[in-house]
Amino acid sequence: MTETTKLFLILTIGIVFLSGVVVRVAAKPSIKKGAFGKTADGKAVEIYTLKNSKGAEMQIITYGGTVVSLKVPDRNGKFGDVVLGYDSIADYEKNQSYIGALIGRYGNRIANGKFKLDGKEYTLAKNNGENHLHGGPKGFDKVIWTERASTDKNGANLELTYLSRDGEEGYPGNLSVKVIYTLTENNDLKIVYSATTDQDTVVNLTHHSYFNLAGAGQGDILTHQLKINADKFTPTDDGSIPTGELKSVKGTPFDFTQPTQIGLRINNADEQLKFGNGYDHNWVLDKTDNSLTLAAIVFEETSGRLMSVLTTERGLQFYSGNFLDGAIKGKNGQNYPRRTGFCLEAQNFPDSPNKPNFPSAVLKKGQTYSQTTIYKFSVIK
Ligand code: GLA
Repeated sequence: MTETTKLFLILTIGIVFLSGVVVRVAAKPSIKKGAFGKTADGKAVEIYTLKNSKGAEMQIITYGGTVVSLKVPDRNGKFGDVVLGYDSIADYEKNQSYIGALIGRYGNRIANGKFKLDGKEYTLAKNNGENHLHGGPKGFDKVIWTERASTDKNGANLELTYLSRDGEEGYPGNLSVKVIYTLTENNDLKIVYSATTDQDTVVNLTHHSYFNLAGAGQGDILTHQLKINADKFTPTDDGSIPTGELKSVKGTPFDFTQPTQIGLRINNADEQLKFGNGYDHNWVLDKTDNSLTLAAIVFEETSGRLMSVLTTERGLQFYSGNFLDGAIKGKNGQNYPRRTGFCLEAQNFPDSPNKPNFPSAVLKKGQTYSQTTIYKFSVIK
């Protein structure tokens, strides 16, 4: 071997080795900060881009702890954005659909905006007819959270914290809330919630992404197949307040114990579907404790995408996007008319503070509220 050949070989091996290192370095989970503009009252909103080493990507803004985009592969390995979202902070401020946001202090409705705790009656802000919905007009979806970014071997994390002051939207106690979003190396959107209070209060946190597994803006979600691990649901009155009954899903359009297309029975002449304007109900998950279990799976045929929802919660609100009306233009000029996204909100049952037979939503001073919910993405070839 000549000296030139030797040199050439050494250089080639060196380059191959170095590019391997570079590829490995680039393949680590990452998180990057950017600016997302200012709210109408002049507060700066940040946007974080989380990436895993498999190419999945999620964006979250500090306003409302809102997931703006989530790109996961289809059966051919092509990445697509599976959540609805907006381009600007002004649109998020206008948004009345809770698109992508964190929900609190109490997810879903509290009847007449009133409840009793430790012998005292509390009056909450009303923002849904006579009722209180999703924490009130300025719920956790409309506040700015404080963030801390990190990465580790499991993925990219964005920790968000918020102090909800005593009396905010009518709730008692200073509630200190922490939510950690992780885009994991397994293409999971993992959400870990915790909260503590200095006075007894009620808490029911959830997440309100609208999913479309064919891709945001790619039509309605009616052919998605849904399975919910629940034999019962909580029927409501015409104002969507649970009656208190835990009703069997058997023989009703609410039976999703086997994978069933969302649209198959959505327009049936059924009183509950009429009250909800479609599906907008809480399913009673088949469990009696707060262990992490599989609550639901959703499959979309054309993309091959499958989403599994695991949670420690005992209820799951399935909302079929009935009130979406295309009023605000979505990301990239997309339009979101009725039923073009669905929500699976892991939660305690609606109006639990007024329903003694529902699992308690009371958080006592000195206790810690905790919840884990995972939206897990995979494909069926
Ligand atoms: C929840 C409620 C619905 C509706 C949506 C957002 O799912 O139950 O009635 O408010 O949020 O529009």
